Amino acid sequence: MNRRNHNTAALAAVLLLSAFSAHSVNAASPPALIPAPQKLVMRDGSFELNRPVTIVAETDAEREAGTLAEELHSLLNSDPIAVAKPTEPGAIRLEIDPSLAAALGREGYRLTVTAGGVQIRAAAEAGLFYGGATLCQLLDTNGDSPSHPAATPATPLSIPCLEIEDAPRFAWRGLLLDPARHFLPVEFVKKFIRTMSLYKFNSLQLHLTDDQGWRLQIKKYPELTQIGSVRRESPKKGDRTQGDGTPYGPYFYTQEEIRDLVAFAAKRHVDLLPEIEMPGHFLAALSAYPQFSCRGVPIQVRTRWGIEPDILCAGNDDAIDFVKDILAEVCDLFPGRFVHIGGDEAPRDRWKECPRCQARIRSQGLKNEAQLQTWMNQQVEKFLEGRGRRMIGWDEILEGGLTPRAAVMSWRGMDGGKAAAQAGHDVVMSPTSHCYFDYAQARGPDEPEAIGGFVPLEAVYSFEPVPPSLPDSQRKHILGAQANLWGEYFWSGSDVEYFAFPRAIALSEVVWSPADRRDFSEFRSRLQRHALTLQRLGVRFRPID
Ligand code: ACM
Ligand code: ZN
Repeated sequence: MNRRNHNTAALAAVLLLSAFSAHSVNAASPPALIPAPQKLVMRDGSFELNRPVTIVAETDAEREAGTLAEELHSLLNSDPIAVAKPTEPGAIRLEIDPSLAAALGREGYRLTVTAGGVQIRAAAEAGLFYGGATLCQLLDTNGDSPSHPAATPATPLSIPCLEIEDAPRFAWRGLLLDPARHFLPVEFVKKFIRTMSLYKFNSLQLHLTDDQGWRLQIKKYPELTQIGSVRRESPKKGDRTQGDGTPYGPYFYTQEEIRDLVAFAAKRHVDLLPEIEMPGHFLAALSAYPQFSCRGVPIQVRTRWGIEPDILCAGNDDAIDFVKDILAEVCDLFPGRFVHIGGDEAPRDRWKECPRCQARIRSQGLKNEAQLQTWMNQQVEKFLEGRGRRMIGWDEILEGGLTPRAAVMSWRGMDGGKAAAQAGHDVVMSPTSHCYFDYAQARGPDEPEAIGGFVPLEAVYSFEPVPPSLPDSQRKHILGAQANLWGEYFWSGSDVEYFAFPRAIALSEVVWSPADRRDFSEFRSRLQRHALTLQRLGVRFRPID
């Protein structure tokens, strides 16, 4: 290093440190919490959190105290944090009190910071977890963030005195990952779950199967992954009309990996929602078991994006049993309440030409192929309900008539979701206009290739999941919203992160905070203070401008 460079480096270090202390504690300024809490009252003074930190687990709070200890250990880059018994002293106290359920529900919490310490109370473990997430943000965004690269174990940790009472606006706060188009390793999915849970998301849909790949081990049908998890080539990066000539796979999750992932997610109060697409987007399965297609001829895993004409044969009883066998293993693996059966973008041309499908239409007295899809959904719904699960699908499942208890995920705008809610069905809103995070978030030559479309941060933040004309009595059917990270143009987890953040952080406020709390320019200034957190978590994000 020559002298000049050395001086430049020294100057940079001084500037960095002075920028750091210019950030310095101002206990009176409200913390930059996202999603914004329902109620926040600032009090005079602050609490200095000294190290080593001890968390006291009062009634029934041991498990959540342990999770918070891990998160704070990582945030503070400190020695492991002790969890102590109720009789012992400690700066942070966690308590479950079921009598809070009426006021706060399962996911709400009260967080109080006084000069004497921090207390988090909730009716259930989920609430304590979210209170803990808020505490992490209080430390990380207010004053000298422990996430700053210059922070040391001696950096003061000051939290302003305050009282927060908080609970989510919506019960369903979701994101979707698509490992079918490009596989996402378990370690990436875990990191994603950890990040989303700190922003109080509670549902992660895994799009496990599609025309381009089958990514879930099914023990009864090993060829699903032996054959269906490999494709001959993929669309070329930069020119989607060409093939890249490179075989892709085998890539899939073993059942053991899924069990591990489910446990990891459960600890962070995230439900994993498995999606097994049918009858369309099913080519990877048919490449392994072509006898369950209408034409029965050998076919290969799809090597281009887009929609495949060959779909599951709904006239073949063995094909219906095949699907049920797969779902039986899915139900054993995923403990959540819902199973997603896809249902979107299924061209019904093969069904029009298929003698078996036509025979089914006649024997069941159906009017058309859309009703045949509904008939198939009925078989699947009965099967899932028999296992205590509820079926959810994309809004195409409305076309031939909804099955009795199906929930709808509305992606082609909000109308499908609105119609379903009016008919008494539960709905998750996920319209392309606000929730398609595979669409570009900015324009310009530096932005990466995207599938098309445009969903900037402000559009996400402006999203209102409840259609304004929906009568009050039907609003309860809008469970919440979900953003989708379809994977065609994400070659790695780092690409996923760039498209997910910071838009997912904007969505977290849409689905958690009171609707009248929203103010984009004020949100954006809070968001600036989350860059350090994302950096600390090793999450790539589009720069916050
Ligand atoms: C979808 O984007 N086809 C649900
Ligand atoms: Zn058929």
